[in-house]
Amino acid sequence: MDKLLIRGGKPLNGTIAISGAKNAALPEMCATLLTSEPVRLYNVPRLRDVATMRRLLENMGVQIQTHGERGGMSFQSMEPVNSEAPYELVKTMRASVLALGPLLARTGRARVSLPGGCAIGARPVEQHIKGLQAMGAEIRVEHGYIEASLPAGRTRLKGASITTDMITVTGTENFLMAATLAEGTTVLENAAQEPEIPDLAEMLIKMGAKISGHGTSRIVIEGVEKLHGCEHAVVADRIECGTFLCAVAATGGDVLLEHGRPEHLDVVIDKLCEAGVDIVREGDGIRVRAAGPAWQHLKAQSFRTTEYPGFPTDMQAQFMALNAVSQGSSLVTETIFENRFMHVSELSRLGANITIDGKNAMVEGVERLSGATVMATDLRASAGLVIAGLVAEGETTVDRIYHLDRGYDQMEVKLRTLGADIERVAG
Ligand code: EPU
Repeated sequence: MDKLLIRGGKPLNGTIAISGAKNAALPEMCATLLTSEPVRLYNVPRLRDVATMRRLLENMGVQIQTHGERGGMSFQSMEPVNSEAPYELVKTMRASVLALGPLLARTGRARVSLPGGCAIGARPVEQHIKGLQAMGAEIRVEHGYIEASLPAGRTRLKGASITTDMITVTGTENFLMAATLAEGTTVLENAAQEPEIPDLAEMLIKMGAKISGHGTSRIVIEGVEKLHGCEHAVVADRIECGTFLCAVAATGGDVLLEHGRPEHLDVVIDKLCEAGVDIVREGDGIRVRAAGPAWQHLKAQSFRTTEYPGFPTDMQAQFMALNAVSQGSSLVTETIFENRFMHVSELSRLGANITIDGKNAMVEGVERLSGATVMATDLRASAGLVIAGLVAEGETTVDRIYHLDRGYDQMEVKLRTLGADIERVAG
């Protein structure tokens, strides 16, 4: 298993490009199942989850090719489509459940393995099932699989009004994709508003879908009989961008994040500015400047994770690592996932002062962390540990970085470009 070896204490300076968003690329790859015509995506990030999604779609019969340097990928999903997402692939990536809606809409059936729990929480998918049932699908969960089909005599799902019990990102995406080919109008209430959803909706509209209200909590989809091919560039990754903002805030430095979209990171940027970081829009990106290591000039910020446009749960670990080396105390509350503090014990091994009480973590800033070996437990936790390692005195080894590779496009290469002393050690 590969590890990252970091010698902390270097400021970050220079320019890097933010990649396409993992959480937009994955549903958009699944959306290519909705048509037999060719679809071309650009700005697809180089990630392990993208490779897993590619294998999953190829297993369904989708022909996929990569093109050139700009993250170009073309897809063609000719008949017949194999409507099965097997456990072997789903178990490594929960986002495989995104195949459920498009498969049902295109072929009238789907057999998708239940994803099971994961490190950050139980993450059930009953809302996905209930919503698709409201659209007329017959769904049984048997032998660990979601078995979905249309009733005898029906060839299309039907429009429905769907109000989920909680806001769910991939649930909203599944309904959005399924509804494009349904008969009649679907109204999604309590829809997720994360920027990846309007990006998916824009792609579906290019394919001929009729969608309005995307980016709000009420999305209306008028079903059409057929969708066609399109070209679409995946939106920039706001979480990758936010991660680098926190890294520069922690170490000090001056970095231009090309393609970064500040309007997708309002709350995180507000908190960083309140802490004392200088952040401005520049060209098509974001410039971040911090005068020196966080302890010298930043004030820790309390925050509470909520659905978009609130503070993203996917930024909680990285901002907590920053708080751990900023002045003063802060309260971090995680409301989305029940087990997303796994990085706390690892940060403590580096000398951070954090106590957990249920959904709350109390962080007392410390002047210095000292390098040690720590273990990555999930994707964003790993990013938090890397930020801590960049600040810590001496050597930090971050073990099990396959988690990081799932969702960050060449993170250590980008950090090295900015002057960090970081290397990947094959294990
Ligand atoms: N939930 C249910 N039942 C459902 C669906 C969701 O109880 O049927 C609960 C979840 O267990 C969770 C909450 O509702 O407590 C919100 O979950 P949501 O469905 O919104 O999460 P998701 O769609 O599985 C996506 C991202 C996550 C991100 C969350 C929240 C993708 C592929 N994944 O997950 O990204 O944390 O939304 O914003 O889009 C990551 O990139 O590291 C990551 C985990």
